[in-house]
Order: sequence, then C-alpha cells, then structure tokens
Amino acid sequence: MKILLVFATNSGGTQLASQIVAETLTKNNHQVTVKEVREVSPADFAAADLIILASPSWDYESLEGQPHPDYRPFMEGIKDQKFAGKKFAVIGLGDSSYTYFCGAVNVLEDFIKKIDGTLVTDSIKIDGFYLDQSTNSQKLDMWAQNLAEKIS
Ligand SMILES: Cc1cc2nc3c(=O)[nH]c(=O)nc-3n(C[C@H](O)[C@H](O)[C@H](O)COP(=O)(O)O)c2cc1C
Repeated sequence: MKILLVFATNSGGTQLASQIVAETLTKNNHQVTVKEVREVSPADFAAADLIILASPSWDYESLEGQPHPDYRPFMEGIKDQKFAGKKFAVIGLGDSSYTYFCGAVNVLEDFIKKIDGTLVTDSIKIDGFYLDQSTNSQKLDMWAQNLAEKIS
C-alpha cells in the first residue's frame, strides 16, 4: 500500500517517531513516504492509499492542545474537500502534565471526520517521548505492526 506519513515537529521527537513507524511499515512491504507537513502537496495526498498524520501538541493562538502550527495552512487548504474512502491514522506526541494531553490527536481526528476520511486504527498518544525513548519506540513499533496487520 502507498502510505504518506505527514509530520511536524519542534524538538525532533515526532520526526523520530515517524521514522520508527515508517521503518516498521516498510518492513511489512508497504511503500512509505515521510514528509514534513509544510512540504505536502495535493498530489502527494491524492497518490496515497493511507495517510498518517503525526503531530506534537502545542499552543496555537492561546488555544492549548493544538496540532503543530504548520498543520494550520495544510488543514485550511483541504478543509472543503472530501476524501471519502481515504484511509487515515494519527500519531500524537505530548506531555501528560498539560491539561489537554495529546489534544492534537482529537483535533486531527475531528478534521479527518470532517473531510470524510476513515480512521483505520486507534490513534497512538506518546507521553514524554524523550523521557523513555526506548519504551516509546517499542510502543510505536507495536502500533505500526498492528496497523500493518489491519491494512494487509
Ligand atoms: C509551549 C508548549 C506547549 C505544549 N502543549 C502541550 C499540550 O497542550 N498537550 C500536550 O500533551 N503536550 C504539550 N506540549 C508537549 C509537547 O507536545 C511534547 O513535548 C512533544 O513531545 C514535542 O514533540 P516534538 O519533539 O516533535 O516537538 C507542549 C510543549 C510546549 C513547549
């Protein structure tokens, strides 16, 4: 399956998480392209059978628990289109000391519903990626393995 893994990051955690997931999916014979959200074109989006959106949670214009600000132009650009039948999954990095732990995941899930996309698996929420990178990497690998089984 052609998979587009879209990410944004501030301190690199979401990029590392995306690479782990991409590696596992590639090992499962999927064709994965990893791209920063600000580089994603409508053609990339159209070409993918499954789109994975990965984001840390962040403040945006005094709202807490939002996707990385780079997601805003991307979401604005496609919000009026419909992607019925397009498969989606969501990866969130956050910190449970914040009021809206991985709030970006909920925002992205709502957005996927709005554009008629289909979530193919439960989203993953990673707490404090760098605090225990080894355990968190294993969680991401298992999530990706499970996703690979669901879409096979
Ligand atoms: C200004 C700021 C706001 C944040 N807001 C939230 C939040 O609302 N919810 C949450 O779960 N984590 C929040 N975090 C934690 C980050 O999402 C977390 O550190 C994440 O792992 C960063 O990912 P990155 O390495 O890809 O940038 C915030 C961090 C900062 C610095």
